[in-house]
Amino acid sequence: MAEVNVDLQEHSYTIHIVAGSIDQAGELLRTLSLGNKVLIITDDNVGPLYADKLVNSLKAAGFTPHVLAVRPGEGSKSLVTANLVFTEAIKSGIDRNCAIIALGGGVIGDLAGFVAANYLRGVPFIQVPTTLLAQVDSSVGGKTAVNHELGKNLIGAFYQPRMVIIDPQTLQTLNDRELKAGIAEIIKYGVIADHEFFAYLEVNAMDLLARNPEVLTTVIGKCCQIKADIVARDERESSLRMILNFGHTIGHAIEGEGGYFEYNHGEGVAIGMHAAALISQSIGLCEQTQVTALTNLIAAFGLPLAAPGYHPNKLLSFLARDKKVLNGKINWILMDKIGHVTITNEVTEENITCALRQIT
Ligand code: NAD
Ligand code: GLY
Repeated sequence: MAEVNVDLQEHSYTIHIVAGSIDQAGELLRTLSLGNKVLIITDDNVGPLYADKLVNSLKAAGFTPHVLAVRPGEGSKSLVTANLVFTEAIKSGIDRNCAIIALGGGVIGDLAGFVAANYLRGVPFIQVPTTLLAQVDSSVGGKTAVNHELGKNLIGAFYQPRMVIIDPQTLQTLNDRELKAGIAEIIKYGVIADHEFFAYLEVNAMDLLARNPEVLTTVIGKCCQIKADIVARDERESSLRMILNFGHTIGHAIEGEGGYFEYNHGEGVAIGMHAAALISQSIGLCEQTQVTALTNLIAAFGLPLAAPGYHPNKLLSFLARDKKVLNGKINWILMDKIGHVTITNEVTEENITCALRQIT
C-alpha cells in the first residue's frame, strides 16, 4: 500500500493509495476515533457504481452509513445543495464525532468538505475521490468551497480531511474526457516541481492514457507527495502554495467564459498552462525549447492548447476579477524551466494580451 502523509501538526493525515481500497475503507476508518454514524455524499453517477462497496465495507467495520446522492456536475457546488446536505445530516443524527465522507470527484469533495467544515462548527471529513483530478489534486490540501452566482469557489474554508482513501481502480469507469482533465493537473506538477516526473510522463503517456494500473498508482502517489509537501509548508496559500495555481489564472477565465461546460477545469488548465508558458517566454524567463516541451506533452495527451473563437478582451475582464488579484495586480505563476516556477506580478497587459491572442 502506498501512503503519503500530509504533515500539518494536529491536522496531519494520511493519504492511502491502493487498488481496491474502497473495500478496506471501514477498516481504515476504524483507526480514527469516529462515531458510528457516517454520512456519505456522492452523485447520481458515482453512487450506483461505488456507494454499495463503500457502504458494505463500513457496515462490516461496525459503522451505520447513510447515503445522499446529489446531481452530478458543477451546479451542485451551491448553497442550495449544501442546504440539502445539512438537512440530511440533521435528519440522520450526525453528531460532532460522526464523519461526512465525500465519494466522488472534485465537485463532491468541495461540497461535502464545505458542509463538514460548517455543520456543527466542523465534523470529521473523509475524502474518497473517484476522478483522476480529485485523486491527484482536489482531495488533498483542504480547500473546500461552493460557488456563488458571481463567481466560482467564492464561499468556502480551508478544512483538512482526516483521511484520504484513493482507489485507482475507480478510474476504470471514468470517461476519457474526465481522465484527461486529471492529466492536465498531473502535467502541472511536473512543471512546477519535478522535471524528472515530467520526463516520466513523456515516456509513459500512452500507458497513462490506457489506464495502466501500475502507472496510475505511481503517478497519483507522486502528485499527492508533491502537493502534500507544498501544503505542509504553506497551508493557507500565503506564498508557496500559489504555485499550484500554474495555468489556473487564464484557465479559470476560459472555464468561466465557456459557462463551465464548454471547457472543463482540466482543459482550462491545459490551455492556461500554454498561455502561462508563452508569457514566461515573452518576458524572457524561459527558452522556447521549454515552451515546446510543455505544448508537446499537453498535445500528446490530446488536451487542448487553445480556445479558438474566444475573445482576448473578455478573458481579460475575467482576469480582473480573479481571486489571485492582490492590490490590483495578478500574481502570475510563470515557468523558468520545466520543473521550476516563479511568482511575479511584473507582467504587462501587453504580455498578457499577446499570449491571449495566441491561444484564442
Ligand atoms: P466532477 O466532480 O464534476 O466529476 C466529473 C464527472 O465524472 C461527474 O459527472 C462525475 O459524476 C463523474 N465521475 C466521478 N467519478 C467517476 C468514476 N469513477 N466513474 C465514472 N464517472 C465518474 O469533476 P472533477 O473534475 O473531479 O472536479 C472538478 C471540481 O473540482 C471543480 O469544481 C473544481 O473547482 C474543483 N477543484 C477543487 C480543488 C481543490 O483543491 N479543492 C482543486 C482542483 C479542482
Ligand atoms: N488546487 C490548488 C490548491 O489546492 O491549492
